[in-house]
Amino acid sequence: MIEASGLSKTFEDGEGKSLAVLSGASLRVARGELVAVMGRSGSGKSTLLHILGGLDTDYAGQVTVAGQRLDGASDEALARFRNTTVGFVFQSFHLVSGLTAAENVALPELFGAHAADAPRRALEALERVGLAAKAQRNPAQLSGGERQRVAIARALFLKPPVLLCDEPTGNLDGATGAEIIELFQRLNREGLTILAVTHEDRVSAAAQRVLRLDQGQLV
Ligand SMILES: Nc1ncnc2c1ncn2[C@@H]1O[C@H](COP(=O)(O)OP(=O)(O)OP(=O)(O)O)[C@@H](O)[C@H]1O
Ligand SMILES: [Mg+2]
Repeated sequence: MIEASGLSKTFEDGEGKSLAVLSGASLRVARGELVAVMGRSGSGKSTLLHILGGLDTDYAGQVTVAGQRLDGASDEALARFRNTTVGFVFQSFHLVSGLTAAENVALPELFGAHAADAPRRALEALERVGLAAKAQRNPAQLSGGERQRVAIARALFLKPPVLLCDEPTGNLDGATGAEIIELFQRLNREGLTILAVTHEDRVSAAAQRVLRLDQGQLV
């Protein structure tokens, strides 16, 4: 489902020095897997996720996700890829404060079809994460775990086959994080392929496989 080989990425620090964050990293995630990527802070986990999600185009190497080749793809193809193939979940939820949970979930529709059934589908997505009863609340009226559920519902709104998560439990306490991990496991059993970047053992313990990012390489 996800295949990357020879990924290299270098940042310029603005003072003429360059930092090699990825140097020939390769990975392969099969359809239906739940895989964790671990590594110390600054090892390049978020950088890797941005490349796999079609958010970053400035790298060397080959990436194919769900049969779509990302390296060298046009901006238009990458925009379509981001809308249809991957959902993103971040540590800090990234919800819009002035919108209800349901409106946040339907946000991807703003960039697409504006279909009349968006509110119904948003409610379905919230049901899938166990939050339909709070669909009309604003993010400020939700707990951290509930906010992350809304963010997950939004990531799943357009029914992508792949979910990419960057420290999804990083802002949650133990019990709440455990509930989110259980949710990922259930979604994974329902067929979703999940790649989660984390430095928490409880997340990697729930994964079927753990990759380590070290010195720019995945092992
Ligand atoms: N836009 C940028 N310009 C310059 N350097 C950057 C940029 N983005 C990231 N870096 C550097 O690249 C390295 C990898 O960053 P990245 O965010 O991928 O690490 P990470 O593994 O996700 O870390 P963390 O666990 O703290 O989130 C870091 O040293 C960071 O300072
Ligand atoms: Mg990061």
